[in-house]
Amino acid sequence: MSQIVVDGVTKTFGETVALNDVSFEVPEGEFVIILGVSGSGKSTLLRTMCGLTSPTEGEIIIGDEPVDEPRPEIAMIFQQHNIIGDMSAYSNALSGGVHRSGFLSSVLQLQSKDEKYRALEALETVGLLDEAKKKARRMSGGQQQRVGIARALVQRPEVLLADEPVASLDPGSAQDVMGYLRTASEERGLTTFCSLHQVNIARKFGHRFVGLNAGEKVFDGYRDELTIDAIDEIYGDIETEGMFVGADGDSEQSGGEEEEART
Ligand SMILES: Nc1ncnc2c1ncn2[C@@H]1O[C@H](COP(=O)(O)OP(=O)(O)OP(=O)(O)O)[C@@H](O)[C@H]1O
Ligand SMILES: [Mg+2]
Repeated sequence: MSQIVVDGVTKTFGETVALNDVSFEVPEGEFVIILGVSGSGKSTLLRTMCGLTSPTEGEIIIGDEPVDEPRPEIAMIFQQHNIIGDMSAYSNALSGGVHRSGFLSSVLQLQSKDEKYRALEALETVGLLDEAKKKARRMSGGQQQRVGIARALVQRPEVLLADEPVASLDPGSAQDVMGYLRTASEERGLTTFCSLHQVNIARKFGHRFVGLNAGEKVFDGYRDELTIDAIDEIYGDIETEGMFVGADGDSEQSGGEEEEART
């Protein structure tokens, strides 16, 4: 059974057609990456999938129910890892339980032992258990984004949505974070749907890809099918060559996987 069904979704903002009759299904546990140029509709799709906005036409079903409002089993990770700088990594992770334990208990840290354990376990998944007490603002961008992933995991989601989770990171940190996202989703069997604009990173971590161009689905397939022609179709006329060029910036990282040799 499909965990996510996107059925004929159209979303318009006045004259702008952000999504045009988009349909696809995602089985449980799949790791899907959405590709598309700026303005192609990636964020709009993710926002409709997590219930932050409703489709103009069509519907999205997650589990057995149409998504018409945010639900705790659907977690969303944003580009601006909106975590609280003055709080420790642990407290930030713990605040992911807010949907379940209530806002006040979250602020006062009155969560159950079980939730506290879950927060530590989530920090371990993203390789930050040793940094649990560190204030978020003293962490690197990549580490902060990993705290954001931990917080989403504490929510105990079944579906993990991520809108350009690595867009603001240098290439090395971006790969690190994607690696942790992939591990987290594999360890916990989460269905994951993530938008990215770096094709090289997408190819490395993605299993299946959905391509959007001007709000229309122009590609849906697995890694072998994501050929240069397919990428041209997703990105239109723009220069795609550079997208295959890997990280050449300074990307020294501690922990995480090593970068592949590049041509
Ligand atoms: N709240 C809104 N009001 C009006 N237009 C919007 C709104 N949200 C998105 N749009 C428009 O819908 C289209 C798709 O936008 P969307 O943000 O989904 O693209 P995107 O693929 O996420 O782009 P980016 O890569 O820049 O984040 C764009 O033309 C955008 O201007
Ligand atoms: Mg966007």
